[in-house]
Amino acid sequence: MANNFALIHNDITVRVVKVRDAKKIERLVLGNREWLKPWEATNPEGPNSFDFKGQIRGLLRQMSNQQGLPLVMEYQGQIVGQLNVSNIYFGSVSSAILGYWIAPEFAGKSITPISVALTSDYLFNVIGLHRVEIAIRPENAASLRIVEKLGFRYEGLKERFIHINGDWRDHFIFALTYEEVREGLLNRFTQNRVPQITYPYKKS
Ligand SMILES: CC(C)(COP(=O)(O)OP(=O)(O)OC[C@H]1O[C@@H](n2cnc3c(N)ncnc32)[C@H](O)[C@@H]1OP(=O)(O)O)[C@@H](O)C(=O)NCCC(=O)NCCS
Repeated sequence: MANNFALIHNDITVRVVKVRDAKKIERLVLGNREWLKPWEATNPEGPNSFDFKGQIRGLLRQMSNQQGLPLVMEYQGQIVGQLNVSNIYFGSVSSAILGYWIAPEFAGKSITPISVALTSDYLFNVIGLHRVEIAIRPENAASLRIVEKLGFRYEGLKERFIHINGDWRDHFIFALTYEEVREGLLNRFTQNRVPQITYPYKKS
């Protein structure tokens, strides 16, 4: 997979993370513990590592094995969050999972949904994947807005699916397949043509 591409929409750029981004990411993650901790994946066997260079190197190794695509989101040229594509499978599955976070001072500007749309379009149209998935805790109202804004289809509940903030947590699964978004996610988002979605417990 190429590592020198940039996906751009207005002030937003999505690109592959570099080892030299570690300091900036460390400042954002360590400076926003309350904001990020409730939603952060944790290690069921012990404390999480805050070796940011090591984490980036690990993600880049997964990329060279075609298993992941570790991205950063930039707003007006500065890094504001991460968008990680993991669990990439080719062949008869051709699917991947997206995860993301943004620093609180940049929240609410639709930077993440636009980045997810840019990335999903890239995965479908350039990498050739067939399905993109997002797993979200039912309590995470802000993240549920992302799949609502982009029209991801609700697939179901995975019980105790991912170890988050110290315990195994249930997750709603949302996905899209290429056939559902031939026109492009970014196109239908910017042109207000996203279908409404429904899922259990949705507040009306
Ligand atoms: C979930 C998250 C990535 C959303 O990113 P974003 O770029 O702010 O996305 P949006 O701009 O579309 O905002 C989504 C919703 O967040 C809420 N929101 C907006 N600004 C906010 C703020 N300053 N503080 C708290 N919530 C806010 C709003 O409900 C918004 O929906 P709306 O646009 O209909 O009002 C971000 O809230 C985040 O990083 N949260 C912590 C980590 C996390 O939850 N990651 C996802 C795990 S699945």
